[in-house]
Parts: sequence; structure tokens; C-alpha cells
Amino acid sequence: MGQQWLKLALIVAVLVALGGDLVDGEEKTILVKTVKGKKVCSQGWECPYYSQFCCNQTISDLFQTYQFENLFSKRNSPVAHAVGFWDYRSFITASIMYQPLGFGTTGGKYMQMREIAAFLGHVGSKTSCGYGVATGGPLAWGLCYNKEESPMQSYCDDSDKYKLIFPCAPGADYYGRGAIPIYWNFNYGYVGEALKLDLLNHPEWVSENATIGFQTAIWRWMTPIKEGQPSAHDVFVGNWKPTKNDTDAKRAPGFGATMNIMYGNLVCGQGDIDSMNNIISHYLYYLDLMGVGREMAGPNEVLSCAEQKPFNPIESSTT
Ligand SMILES: *[C@@H]1O[C@H](CO)[C@@H](O)[C@H](O)[C@H]1NC(C)=O
Ligand SMILES: *[C@@H]1O[C@H](CO)[C@@H](O)[C@H](O)[C@H]1NC(C)=O
Ligand SMILES: *[C@@H]1O[C@H](CO)[C@@H](O)[C@H](O)[C@H]1NC(C)=O
Repeated sequence: MGQQWLKLALIVAVLVALGGDLVDGEEKTILVKTVKGKKVCSQGWECPYYSQFCCNQTISDLFQTYQFENLFSKRNSPVAHAVGFWDYRSFITASIMYQPLGFGTTGGKYMQMREIAAFLGHVGSKTSCGYGVATGGPLAWGLCYNKEESPMQSYCDDSDKYKLIFPCAPGADYYGRGAIPIYWNFNYGYVGEALKLDLLNHPEWVSENATIGFQTAIWRWMTPIKEGQPSAHDVFVGNWKPTKNDTDAKRAPGFGATMNIMYGNLVCGQGDIDSMNNIISHYLYYLDLMGVGREMAGPNEVLSCAEQKPFNPIESSTT
């Protein structure tokens, strides 16, 4: 009899211990109020200030540790280049700043899961080391890197435009770092301002701290490249309405347009090229693994950017 109780007490103790941690399916309190006739909410640590988006499920409700492990199953294999660096907790922690703004919290469950898959599809393709006949298949190797290996330059633009606002720090290199690599002093400068981190003087933080490595990538996803333009998030979730110019340029809301915003003519408007198909393949693979299914990705006109004219043509390699 006494032993039974002891067992039960142990189980309860274990459950309580787990409950205090970042655990799938944890109970959360949703606080609701009405501001100017609109319902806004906040949800604990993950969606910490009042916003309409925090009334919806949060990312950790829809995307859990085991799914992160499935998507990035080879990242800690001995031949990977950032073993032990990336983890689920860093991704969720990094998203806290942007969930109240709609990242992964817009449009209801299926749109939310598609956006997570789309964002991570960019991440996976940009950080993969899975080529050809890699074990597990070439798509299983996302988050293999956290920085550019053997950079050919230090990516310091000290032209008049940037030398006063974002001067390169002595000895600092601004090569690609993070879950969607950022390059150049001015990009480290802009993202550092947004995240309130001195990345201009400490660009290395992006590849030394996985939360920051994800934060810079989410910033890139949520922020227009130029004022007046949509962000990748906006074109994906349907916040953006194409103008006639956009329609003439074959730019339609969807995954294809996210590649257009992030990589311009490096990837888009070049027909069915490998670098574009590689990003799409990661997105579709993740949709399948997350249980959403690739058929939810929509038709090729919105999935691809093979025929799209770029929003921001890139003349030299300055992004
Ligand atoms: C929250 O989810 C519902 C569907 O569950 C959706 O209709 C609504 O647009 C979402 N809210 C926001 C702010 O996107
Ligand atoms: C990583 O960065 C986050 C966000 O700036 C910070 O809160 C955290 O303390 C950092 N972790 C370490 C180990 O420095
Ligand atoms: C549309 O395209 C034309 C011709 O390229 C250009 O002159 C005009 O400024 C564009 N309009 C907008 C709103 O971008």
C-alpha cells in the first residue's frame, strides 16, 4: 500500500518538475482584453505582450521538440559543422520577440504551420551540408552550419553611405553567420539595432549564441529589405496585395515571393534552377515531416519564382 503511494508521489513529482520547464503541451494562461473594439491577448512567456496574434495558438503549441529533431535530424552528426549548437529552445526563445507581431501566429493553425515550415525551409537550405548521396538524404542536413566556412572577404562596406552609421569595427569580419546567414557591416548594423544588440562590434555573437543566430534570421523574414516593400512574412501570409506592376512581373503572394524578397535574381527569374529548387524542396520536405503535407503548398505559380522579376535586382553581391 505504502509503496503504491510512494510511486504515485514520484510520478507527480516528475510531472511537476517537467511542468516548470519548456515542455510540449504545457498549460498556458491567456489574458484577454479589448482595445478600441479589438480583442487582444497575451500568452505568458511566449507571446508576452498584448496583440491580436497572441490570441491564437503559439508556435510551441504547433511545432514541438520532436518535430524540430525530425526536421534537422543530422545536425549533430559527427561530420556536421555546428555540432551541439542549434536547438529547439533557441528557436522558440528567438521567436518570442516576433510572435506578438504575427510570426507563426497569423491566420490560424494551417497557415501558422505552413509559415513555420516556409521559414525553416529557408533556414534548412541555407545551412545544409547534405549533398548528393548524404545519409538520410540531402534534405536531412539543415542546420549543419552556423557560419560561412573560409570566407573570401570581410564584407566591410566603408563607402560614404555606411562609414558613419555602421562603421566596421577594427578586426571584425562581417561574413555570413546565423540560421539565414547575414552578410556585410550594414546588415549587422540594421539587425543589431532591431534586436538591441551591438552586433556591429560583436558580429561573432550570431554564430556563438543560437538564440541570436535564429533572431537574426527571423528579423530577415519579418523585415522588408526596403521601405514600402513587403517582408517575406507579408507575402507569405497574405498581408501583401500585389499591384499591377507586381502582377505584370509575375509576383504573386506565396512561397515563391519569399525567395524573391530574400535572394532576388540570385534565385528568381532564372527559370527552374537548382538553387531555387533546393529551397523549395526543403520547404516541401518540412511540410511532410510536420504532418501538414506538401499538397498544402499550393500550385507551382505561387511555390516557385522561376518566372518572377525580382523586387530588388542585385547587381553586385552586396546583400
Ligand atoms: C487566429 O486564428 C484564426 C483561425 O483559427 C484566424 O481566422 C485568425 O485570422 C487568426 N488571427 C490572426 C490575428 O491572424
Ligand atoms: C544569448 O543571447 C540571448 C539573447 O540576446 C541572451 O538572452 C542570452 O543570455 C545569450 N546566451 C548566452 C549564453 O550568452
Ligand atoms: C510600375 O512600373 C513602371 C514601369 O517600370 C514604373 O515607372 C512605376 O514607377 C511602377 N509603379 C510602382 C507603383 O512601382
